[in-house]
Amino acid sequence: MPQKSHTHAQWSSRLAFLLAAVGSSVGLGNIWKFPYMTGESGGGAFVVVYLICIALVGLPILMSEWLLGRLGQKNPMSSMQKIAGRMKRSQSWGLVGLAGILGAYLILSFYSVIGGWALAYIKYAVTDTFSTLDGDSVGSLFGNLLGDPSTLLLWHSVFMIMTVGVVIGGVAGGLERAAKTLMPALVVLLVVMVGYAATTDGFAEGVRYLLLPDFSKLTAQTILAAMGHAFFTLSLGMGIMMAYGSYLSDDVNIGRTAVIVVFMDTIIALMAGMAIFPIVFSNGLDAGAGPGLIFQTLPLAFGHMSGGWLFGILFFVLLVFAAWTSSISLLEPVVEWLEEKTSMNRKGATIAAGLATWALGLATVLSFNVWSDIHPLGIFDKFSGMTIFDLLDYATSKVMLPLTGLATIIFVGWFMQRDELKSQLNVSSGAFSLWYVTSRFVAPIGVAVVFVFGLIN
Ligand code: TRP
Repeated sequence: MPQKSHTHAQWSSRLAFLLAAVGSSVGLGNIWKFPYMTGESGGGAFVVVYLICIALVGLPILMSEWLLGRLGQKNPMSSMQKIAGRMKRSQSWGLVGLAGILGAYLILSFYSVIGGWALAYIKYAVTDTFSTLDGDSVGSLFGNLLGDPSTLLLWHSVFMIMTVGVVIGGVAGGLERAAKTLMPALVVLLVVMVGYAATTDGFAEGVRYLLLPDFSKLTAQTILAAMGHAFFTLSLGMGIMMAYGSYLSDDVNIGRTAVIVVFMDTIIALMAGMAIFPIVFSNGLDAGAGPGLIFQTLPLAFGHMSGGWLFGILFFVLLVFAAWTSSISLLEPVVEWLEEKTSMNRKGATIAAGLATWALGLATVLSFNVWSDIHPLGIFDKFSGMTIFDLLDYATSKVMLPLTGLATIIFVGWFMQRDELKSQLNVSSGAFSLWYVTSRFVAPIGVAVVFVFGLIN
């Protein structure tokens, strides 16, 4: 990466950085997970808490990860150790980086299975399966897919191969350049979907559901879920943004860039919600349907709207691309770590990491059918009824991401020098003070309180 020379290369690498960051953050989290979590948590109140978490926790931690990466110039674990060493702090800060690598592995194992669902839906769209669907059959289409482990396995394998292929070839740059046109295309298509939703008679109810908070629906669990999702959707807590930050040149304004990424990510999630909930209400579907929500709503819209065949194909293709640019960012830290800690070369490390992720993904594949009655932590009330997939999701989003995020922000807020932070962030004094107070007090206290209450309640 060229340093501080004002050439065209510098500009394009800055854009490349932005694309990589948006590519990582915008993914299944926005379009698949956000709407279904909103639906499971009762709507607007969840959204309000989520937006607060994005602003008060997500944004400052995103900035912290980038500045740590830029200062450390190494992989997340070594960056943390290097900066900690310079501050005469314990090397065990490196464990935060290590936890991130484990988390990325766990997340990718189920992320790939869901990416596989999206691939399967491209096939349904191409074969014009949606045009005949109604409220019942849209559910059975999805149910049949989940009930069929070999088909799920096939698509999960394809998605993993796509991810490994990009990471092996080191052509991530190419994919990210492709994202430059695909992300705007995704936004345009979401606008079309919201436009369609606006013509349905459930529109007002859907928008009200999404945006009007009913705070009586809030529980410690939904608040923890909203906070965990703020980490998930911004790709925080796994050191991924830290790794990206190590490629960041000194003249990039971290604060402004972070605001752009957060804004894009949030808008896309909200638009997905605006497209989906009206369809839920106008077809009498269940907003709390869970992980299948987008797969049981949007196909109805494609079946009914004019040009729906084409829009359906486009939508699921773009969804796969969004998932793909996120999944490469999840595999990368595992590969880097293997490369450094073993004698494997990049190719070997990528294949090994890919195979290990694929293998763990089998547990998620089976969670929806053969193992749907296996509840490993069923003896605890709180976890009764949770499948292996549910537990993987819980352990990562609700435990690991908040804890590593908390460690990161405490490190930055309390163990680093104010002057250094100020010169790194290079923003106005007012903005810096706001960031500093949030990073020292608001974010860590908020995360800790939500985390503890969520676990004990
Ligand atoms: N943010 C991505 C999404 O919303 C998922 C993701 C990519 C992620 N990298 C991550 C989540 C790192 C947590 C940590 O789909």
